[in-house]
Amino acid sequence: MGILRKKPVEAVLDPEKENKSGLVPTLGVLDLTALGVGAVIGTGIFVLTGVAAANYAGPGVIFSFILSGITAGLAALVYAELAAAIPSAGSAYTFAYVSLGEIVAWLVGWNLILEYMVAAGAVSIGWSSYLGDLLKSLGITLPAAYTSSPLDGGIMNVPAALIVLLITALIVTGTQHSATANKIIVAGKLAAIGLFIALGARHIDPANWQPVLPYGMAGVIHGAAIVFFAYIGFDAVATAAEEVKNPQRDLPRGIIWTLAVSTILYVVVAAILTGMVKYTELNTASPVATALLRAGIPWASAVVSVGALTGLTSVLLVSMYGQSRIFFAMARDDLLPPIFDWLHPRLRTPVWDSVIIGAIVALIGAFLPIGLVAEMANIGTLSAFIVVSLGAMILRRTNPGLQRPFRLPLMPLIPVLTIVLTAYLALNLPPLTWVRFVVWIAIGLIVYLTYGYRNSRTGNPSGMGYRGGHIPVQARKLYRSPRGK
Ligand code: ALA
Repeated sequence: MGILRKKPVEAVLDPEKENKSGLVPTLGVLDLTALGVGAVIGTGIFVLTGVAAANYAGPGVIFSFILSGITAGLAALVYAELAAAIPSAGSAYTFAYVSLGEIVAWLVGWNLILEYMVAAGAVSIGWSSYLGDLLKSLGITLPAAYTSSPLDGGIMNVPAALIVLLITALIVTGTQHSATANKIIVAGKLAAIGLFIALGARHIDPANWQPVLPYGMAGVIHGAAIVFFAYIGFDAVATAAEEVKNPQRDLPRGIIWTLAVSTILYVVVAAILTGMVKYTELNTASPVATALLRAGIPWASAVVSVGALTGLTSVLLVSMYGQSRIFFAMARDDLLPPIFDWLHPRLRTPVWDSVIIGAIVALIGAFLPIGLVAEMANIGTLSAFIVVSLGAMILRRTNPGLQRPFRLPLMPLIPVLTIVLTAYLALNLPPLTWVRFVVWIAIGLIVYLTYGYRNSRTGNPSGMGYRGGHIPVQARKLYRSPRGK
């Protein structure tokens, strides 16, 4: 059946057919780990830790981070096998296309919009609250109406929109620049976290850890479903596949390093935070800065706020970068209009793609509240993990001969465990989030059936799909990217 048509693995691996030369391979393992850590450590630890501790898990938020970390770690291993075997800008979307068929791939791509673009919106909102706090500590108060969404009683969140537009400009100027800027930013973020750990550890009062589980295990699990947001983004490493010098070796390493560094930092920060301040008092937009203020070290609070702002900036940078590469891959398969895979002749980046994403993320940041946006990002990501795990199992059967530089041991144990844990976390998200998710999927199906299904390159291998049907081949080539598809 058409909607279940699969893209042959060979089509992804054959550079001729895919015209991979369009993107330039410049990244190594350090770049990738920086990219991953840049994408991962952000709003989850700097904002949502406090929310989860105060409302759901208490000091047990430490276990929430461990449970989420195990889930993300297992998914990371599955991603590592697939990313090393099928290095492609489309990541989970491409894995689903070769293993489960077009409609599933489309839906994964559609849900990755939640993971990257919507999550970026949440991060821009977190960025705005840290900026507000920092300015407040310097005696400047931003008007509430212009720092919150209409759904929170404001007019629009101006700083959130502005930071997104700035990052868009950076992405448009090229990958190598972005990777260098990102490494500097990541160093700043890690230094800020290091400072918090070093100072905070001296101000722990073990009495604050009692009771450990004020809301029981149920609280820990609800907390895990929320702080899962903190792990979103490690798979951005996989989306850079076509710009990596040695993807077979470096992609799995980049992914695994990213997860290891982030999990350790999260658990340590969560332990120190809940040890410094009673969990009931952590329900603030900037809990890490608040804890240092309470400990009577205002200078450290300001420094860490600057680090948090830097960290959130890098998350934005990488998630918007990841989204543009996924749209790029989907447009290359003709499931999205050609504007998304048009490369600028000199910059060699998908410029329109990045500009459109920037505009949408800025709108999300300006007009929506953080809770709603973060929960949507979580459910979208969890659903993509389930499909990727299914895909890994299916590909082992359908393509046993595929070169797998990184092979999962004890197959199918790890993908099965990933599916079970991921589904469990998703089921612990609020019912309203599920309703919104179903509506989102329904819209995605309509878009696919009205555009992607009729234009799909896989469905029209001659390259004369619906959208190109009226354009002579030669004109079509000119019209499209300089890769000369
Ligand atoms: N993991 C990213 C963050 O916490 C999305 O900001």
